[in-house]
Amino acid sequence: MYTSQTASSMSVAPYPIENRLQIQDLLALSQNKQNEGSDVVSGLKQTPKSLPPKYFYDDRGSQLFEQICELPEYYLTRTETAILQECASEIASITGACEIVELGSGSSTKTRILLDAYHNLGHPLRYLPIDVSAGILETSARKLLLDYPSISVRGLVSTYELALQQLPPAQLKSRMICFIGSTLGNLTPKECDRFFAHIINALQPGEYFLLGIDLQKPKHLLEAAYNDSQGVTAQFNLNMLDHLNWRFKGNFDPNQFEHQAVYNESQSQIEIYLLCKKAQTVRLRALDLTVEFETDETILTEISRKFDLNAMRRELGARGLVPVQAWTDPNRWFGLLLCQMGFPSEDGRSPNSILGAD
Ligand code: TRP
Repeated sequence: MYTSQTASSMSVAPYPIENRLQIQDLLALSQNKQNEGSDVVSGLKQTPKSLPPKYFYDDRGSQLFEQICELPEYYLTRTETAILQECASEIASITGACEIVELGSGSSTKTRILLDAYHNLGHPLRYLPIDVSAGILETSARKLLLDYPSISVRGLVSTYELALQQLPPAQLKSRMICFIGSTLGNLTPKECDRFFAHIINALQPGEYFLLGIDLQKPKHLLEAAYNDSQGVTAQFNLNMLDHLNWRFKGNFDPNQFEHQAVYNESQSQIEIYLLCKKAQTVRLRALDLTVEFETDETILTEISRKFDLNAMRRELGARGLVPVQAWTDPNRWFGLLLCQMGFPSEDGRSPNSILGAD
């Protein structure tokens, strides 16, 4: 850990926080504001119904998610943290000095393990957190600046896609994009394809990609992780309805819905649903939308895919992201994969060409 002892033994005062912090809001500049909510309309109009997972994360949703990460049944955060503690110094020595870009940085808790490792090896610290929540991004950036007197932070309030298209040029000699927490599993295979294409486009040859993925395991363990005995995950799922009511002037009654998490073994994915307990009509005034629900009808709110570490290694390799090292826990429940962006091949075609006309 980078402790206060180290900080207080420094003879030179650290640079003031304001000189080391830059935050840019890419969302405020994007034109997407007018069609806000069009994804809710299309999701609720289709059969079967679905809602975009991004609506989980209002302030209460973000708090509930932090609670989920601490639940005894939710092994993901704990396992990934333990793996990172084991391998962070190896990662830092493989990559050498490099700036750390983190997609979906949230509270940046796990990032500290990496920052400590780079600091201990004497590498300069530069961190680019990316998150859609401006509040969380700034609060955690300020905490990091206090705890790491030499770090500089450049935060982007942004979706992954937008940020990957607009990353500022690297200031250190290499860069590592981190996508941990198995958030990749929340993307459909098609979204995943697009996401990898954007990663490849954002990396220079020789730069790194660190990916954390949840691995396939018995159904009962998975279903318990997404349906905990204290009911926190149920509250998290149902909170999406309160969020939609607030944001789009809706009249969902969360008591009329029930949380459901099922592992679909043929697709290797957890499916999270809101089940409507009795037939009803719901209105979202700000979207001019009226939706009919039948008894036992479901709304899919999230998928969480579970992966095979070797298959993922091959898939990334085939895309030009060369696997350098993989780590897992003794149960093989979770995997961490470090890849390096390949160099253009002999025929002069850059690996970037797979992005196509996007
Ligand atoms: N990325 C997390 C995961 O797939 C998100 C998550 C955790 C989640 N618990 C949830 C999403 C419960 C919906 C409901 O594990």
